This record gives sequence, C-alpha cells and structure tokens, in this order.
Amino acid sequence: MTQAVKTPVYLDYHATTPVDPRVFEAMQRYFCAEFGNAASSEHRFGWVAESAVKQARQRIASLIGAQRVAEIIFTSGATESNNLAILGAMRANAHKGDHLISVVTEHKAVLDPCHWWRQQGGRVTLLPVAEDGLIDLAALEAAIDERTVLISVMAANNEIGVLQDIAAIGALAKQRGVLFHSDAAQAAGKIPLDMEAMGLDLCSFSAHKFYGPKGVGALYVRRRNPRVRLAPLLFGGGHEQGLRSGTLNVPGIVGMAEALALAVAEMDEEAARLTALRERLWRHLAAGLEDLTLNGHKTKRLPGNLHVSVADVEPEKLLTAVKDLALSSRSACTSASQEPSHVMAALGLDEQRLQAAVRFGLGRFTSEAEVDYAAARMVSMVAQLRRENTVAQHS
Ligand SMILES: Cc1ncc(COP(=O)(O)O)c(C=O)c1O
Repeated sequence: MTQAVKTPVYLDYHATTPVDPRVFEAMQRYFCAEFGNAASSEHRFGWVAESAVKQARQRIASLIGAQRVAEIIFTSGATESNNLAILGAMRANAHKGDHLISVVTEHKAVLDPCHWWRQQGGRVTLLPVAEDGLIDLAALEAAIDERTVLISVMAANNEIGVLQDIAAIGALAKQRGVLFHSDAAQAAGKIPLDMEAMGLDLCSFSAHKFYGPKGVGALYVRRRNPRVRLAPLLFGGGHEQGLRSGTLNVPGIVGMAEALALAVAEMDEEAARLTALRERLWRHLAAGLEDLTLNGHKTKRLPGNLHVSVADVEPEKLLTAVKDLALSSRSACTSASQEPSHVMAALGLDEQRLQAAVRFGLGRFTSEAEVDYAAARMVSMVAQLRRENTVAQHS
C-alpha cells in the first residue's frame, strides 16, 4: 500500500535544499547572542565571531583536502566565487596570457564572466560536449595554447547531473602549466572532492546546495604549487586577504561548515540511498511511459539526478498540470525563459527530446513513498496529456 505523502513533493534539490535542522541549530547562536563582527579585534564580541569563522575555515579546508586554511575565501555563493575565480585569475595573469577555456554546458555564472572577458578583448574557447554531456579530454588538450591562463570545468552539471573527470583535467592542467578552476556548486557534499588529489587551483562552493543557508559560499584558492594570484572584484575593508571585502556572514559561514561536515560524513550512505531511489523512479516511469529517454551519462551523474525527456508532451504543460510535484524543466536560474536550456541544446538531441525535458532532483529528505507518488502522478498526467493531444489532432 502506498504511504500518504505530503504535497507538494519537493523534487528540485538542484535549485536549492532546505537547511538541515542540525545546521540551523549550529548557526542559531550567531544571530542574536553572538552577533559580533569577525573583524572587531578589540572586544569579546569580535573575538567570538572571529573564532567561529576560524573554526569553520579549518573544518572546510580539511573537508575538501586543502593544504592550508588560508586557501578558503568566503563569498556570497557560487556565482560570486565563479566570477572571482575567472575574472580574478584572468586579470591578475594578463601578463601571462589572455586565453580561457571552458565548456558550453557550464552554469551562467561561469559562461557570463567568460563572455564578459571576451567582450574585453580576451580569447575564450568553449568546448562542446558529447551526447552524454561529457567533454573530450583530447579536445581540451588541443585547445590549450601558450597564452592559455585558465581552464574552468564544472564538477557536476546542475541540469543533467553529469560528472566531468575532474582529476584527469587537473592532471592535464598541471602538466601544461595552466590554472584549473571548477564550479563544484552541485558536486560538493554529494561526491568526494579533494583539491590536492584532483589538481584544483580554484574551486567554487555554495552552502545552499548542500543543506546549508543561502547567500554564503567559498572559493578555494591554492597558495602553493602554484600560488594563485587573483585580482579582487570587491574593494573595501580588505577582508579575506584583500580578495573579498565585506563583513563576514558569521552565522552563514558556521552553517556552511556544519552542513559540509554532515554531508561528507553521510556521503557514502546517502549516495547509495539516492542512487537506489533514482533507479526506482526510473523503473516506475519507464514501466508506465512509452518514449521515455534518459538525458546525460547513465552512470557518471549525481546520485540524486534523473533527467528525462517525455516525447509528445510539453514540459511546461506537464509541470503546470502536476502542481503537487515541485519539479523543473530546466535550471532555476534560467527557467524564466521559454527556450530550451543551453545545456540540453548542447547535447545535440532531436527537437522532441530537447523540448520535453524534465529534471528530477532527489535529496536528503526524499522518501520512497514520495518517489512512488511522483512516478504515479507523472505516468497518469502524461497519459492524459497525450490523450488530449490525440483528440486535438483528430478534431
Ligand atoms: C553549477 C552551479 N553553479 C553556480 C550556481 C550559483 O550558485 P549561487 O546560488 O550560490 O550563486 C548554481 C546554482 O544554481 C549552480 O547550480
């Protein structure tokens, strides 16, 4: 018997995640009781805040395999981290080169700084992806020239969940003496990340993607082998080693560290649980729906990501019809536009698959009952919409 589920069922964990109550608990005292400014060095309020930030920085550094605590720069999220990494590295290294390599399926928070760099007269190569969403390492290698400063490749895609081979790209970048940045907004806390082992020089994080608060993130900036130079985007009080001025978001930073620690501690078990739930969802959908296709690589994907195309159904209509499921047909950041997403367009799929994409994002609080409910609702609603289409065509 199906258990009762509370609706709407949240299946949009790539857009954002709820703050885990354990994270909220850890943050709470830094709002009202311990509200000090971490830069106030003359009194206890400041010391308490500073010590909380220091501890959070240490925890994050050790959780991501950074060699030095000072390699963690707190920001407002992955958008800011990506902008600082890309524009900061290109500007600071203008004497070495003007060329930047990234990928067509990156998040807009990477693509837009790339476009801006191009508008300033810089050179940008955006690599294509295969139908499975993966880049070709040989093409990446061939794109590197003597004026290439930076390679930026996301660890996990926010739409199709595809995981690029970060360690292999890091090894190649090292070998060619090029800096390597990765947008790990979707990957952090879901798959193992190790800055040292993966040869990363810069890496972007966002707390709200791993059950931490919104509006806080970090940029990992390598200090040795090589020491990465960045030009800041924000000027002011000289916080974060002059790389990011602005009063630190102490509760947010504490929450981010707690959230990452929990996600890393529970990663293996959670990944297995989500993979099983995703497969269950796929099985139910595939059993009930004809012409269902999976988008993105079959196994090299985030455990909680299922991205499908449902032929002959307009996703906007479908998602409006199933109001009791919180789903997305493209990334939240671009969903205001009606065009197929740039990620889907890059896969080279036929128009049918391109137009009919639905993203399921499963997460920490997704249950088996919710997956079963979602699959049943999708199957019945698609059948109804297809019947309506047929009637419309014949009338
Ligand atoms: C891959 C990726 N990069 C960057 C971002 C932007 O992150 P933030 O919301 O922290 O600015 C997101 C969030 O949608 C994302 O999924």
